[in-house]
Amino acid sequence: MSHPLKAAILIISTSVAQGVSKDSSEDILRSVFEGEEEAGRWTVSDVKVVSDDILEIQRQIREWTDHEASGINLIVTTGGTGFATADQTPEAISPLIHKHAPGLVHAMLATSLSVTPFAMMSRPVAGVRNKSVIITIPGSPKGAKENLQAVIKTVPHACIQVAGADSRSLHAGGVKRLEKDAGIISLGHSSHDNSTAHHRGHKHEAHAHEHAHGHGHGHGHGHGHGSLVRHTKQGENPMSNDPSLGPTRRHRASPYPMLDVEEALALVSKHTPAPTVITSKVDNELVGAVLAEDVTASENVPAFRASIVDGYAVVVPKDGNMRGVFPVTAVSHAAAGEVGELKEGEVARITTGAPLPPGATSVIMVEDTVLKTMTEDGREEKEIEILADGVREGENIREVGSDTKDGSIILQKGEQVSSVGGEIGLLAAVGTATVKTYKRPVVGVLSTGDEIVNHDRPGHLRLGEVRDTNRPTLITAARGWGYEVIDLGIASDKPGTLEETLRNGMRQADLLITTGGVSMGELDLLKPTIERALGGTIHFGRVNMKPGKPTTFATVPVKNNDGERVSKVIFSLPGNPASALVTFHLFVLPSLQAMSGVSPVGLTKIPVSLLHEFKLDPGRPEYHRALVSVGSDGSLWATSTGGQRSSRVGSLKGANALLCMPKGVEPLQKGTKVEALLMSNVRLVL
Ligand SMILES: *[C@@H]1O[C@H](CO)[C@@H](O)[C@H](O)[C@H]1NC(C)=O
Ligand SMILES: *[C@@H]1O[C@H](CO)[C@@H](O)[C@H](O)[C@H]1NC(C)=O
Repeated sequence: MSHPLKAAILIISTSVAQGVSKDSSEDILRSVFEGEEEAGRWTVSDVKVVSDDILEIQRQIREWTDHEASGINLIVTTGGTGFATADQTPEAISPLIHKHAPGLVHAMLATSLSVTPFAMMSRPVAGVRNKSVIITIPGSPKGAKENLQAVIKTVPHACIQVAGADSRSLHAGGVKRLEKDAGIISLGHSSHDNSTAHHRGHKHEAHAHEHAHGHGHGHGHGHGHGSLVRHTKQGENPMSNDPSLGPTRRHRASPYPMLDVEEALALVSKHTPAPTVITSKVDNELVGAVLAEDVTASENVPAFRASIVDGYAVVVPKDGNMRGVFPVTAVSHAAAGEVGELKEGEVARITTGAPLPPGATSVIMVEDTVLKTMTEDGREEKEIEILADGVREGENIREVGSDTKDGSIILQKGEQVSSVGGEIGLLAAVGTATVKTYKRPVVGVLSTGDEIVNHDRPGHLRLGEVRDTNRPTLITAARGWGYEVIDLGIASDKPGTLEETLRNGMRQADLLITTGGVSMGELDLLKPTIERALGGTIHFGRVNMKPGKPTTFATVPVKNNDGERVSKVIFSLPGNPASALVTFHLFVLPSLQAMSGVSPVGLTKIPVSLLHEFKLDPGRPEYHRALVSVGSDGSLWATSTGGQRSSRVGSLKGANALLCMPKGVEPLQKGTKVEALLMSNVRLVL
């Protein structure tokens, strides 16, 4: 094949045609055509975008097929093959086809079906018009790639025949030659029917699919986490899959032992790096920080003797009898200033908080006095009469350092600066500008999976696409607990991409949270990437809990900027939104808190009563999302926040607690006491 075959790509998407969304299939399809494996067999000679409109689609196809000069050998359309009302691609293409090619359709469907049952929701057509082969593939980037890869090795043969080469000369070398020409590594079989199968075995990495991700789970197709049946014991091999080995060499079961939540938490505590000490400014950024030193006051509060009332500063005689008429010799306002020495028999008018004149020993409240005479202009007091006796020294005076003594400890190491304001207030009162605190870890959050699209991407989802729920959810949760968060975006399922994203994340963050890619599917690239590419250690990969069984905790040794070896923490949470948020609170939060010097770590545990009957999971302890409210008598009651399926992000709306439910067969009755882990404030309702 000296001349490359000419391919044309037709992107069928109204939103792309209108510029509302960006097309991502072109690059992916080009990479298949122009990739190394095809070794120059193809050239992509035209790419067009049209709306989901039958006439528009047909006009473009005809332009390619009905003019000899175009010389297009293969037309690949992407998009519009689903069941949505707008999907019209098969209806547009079918009438144009001169010879139908059900074999190509079969090959594409078989490939996709081996990955996900949702493939049956695709309606591809394929065939020949004039001298061009036409295939229709799905619009989702992953599905498109997979479908094209399913046929690209064999389709050149058809293209050459369609273009008019005589079939006898083509077949001269037999099927073996055809396979060789097509670049298919023959495994010794010579039948055509077997070639597709070889192809699939050898190109397994193309079968990228969302079923590796919890994101796709639980939408009613029966493989939620609750009802798995297992008949054999798990293997001993502690290492993750080597993604290059192919499906036949994969672990059939997770090689990680199933740990109880307590065992898993013990490992988190053991392998979370110790907190490091930094100097922090005393300002509102300090809220949430834990002090790494005792803080001593460097000055007295108050710094001077101050009056606590409006009245008159006096020098109390020995007998304490202050009755009589006194000249007002001075005025002391709260504003700082100089006041002369006060002598016995004189009084100085003073306002609340103002410094006492030197020599004054007490303050008489204005209520205990009567105005006697005024100055001539009538504007100032000249003399007042005091009606008090039994006055003692120090009355109505705040002594120097009576609130806080210079040198005393005002806050202790390990205390956390609250958002209530008391600690900041105390630090501010004594003029503390900086304190030593534990550095709070920076959190990096990423999602993995080619099927994940940004939550705010406009337009309808294509088959298989899933909006990224976890990243915004987890970023919010981590920020809500006071941690700085870096959004690391969505990493694709290619092994190199994930490694690069993780390395980049570890340069910026101390703890990474990834979601997706934690089940046993082919695309569980995370564990192999951590172990094989990053040299990290997986401390656990399965936890006996619901939801959240595939929760994974790993550490990766890296050198920091000073060349010291430090450890970065990676949590890989299940892709299901509810599982991700539950395991964040259960495992990630304690790790973040430990790194920040918070003690004790974890959510606050309180006993509550069930307000209604609760079903239990027969296999695993469950963390049930619930609303805990306080009754007028102070009793705490829990109600479920609804369907607890792990994909249901709605089960966390309005939840302020996770109820620790044991596994069991019989439901727990209304009124039963259970422990609740508080995620936020208890509300007063009922
Ligand atoms: C392609 O097929 C159409 C419909 O059968 C026909 O009208 C047209 O002439 C053909 N064009 C070529 C170049 O064969
Ligand atoms: C596929 O190859 C096997 C092994 O050579 C052979 O026994 C079988 O008949 C082939 N299948 C078909 C459908 O030709």
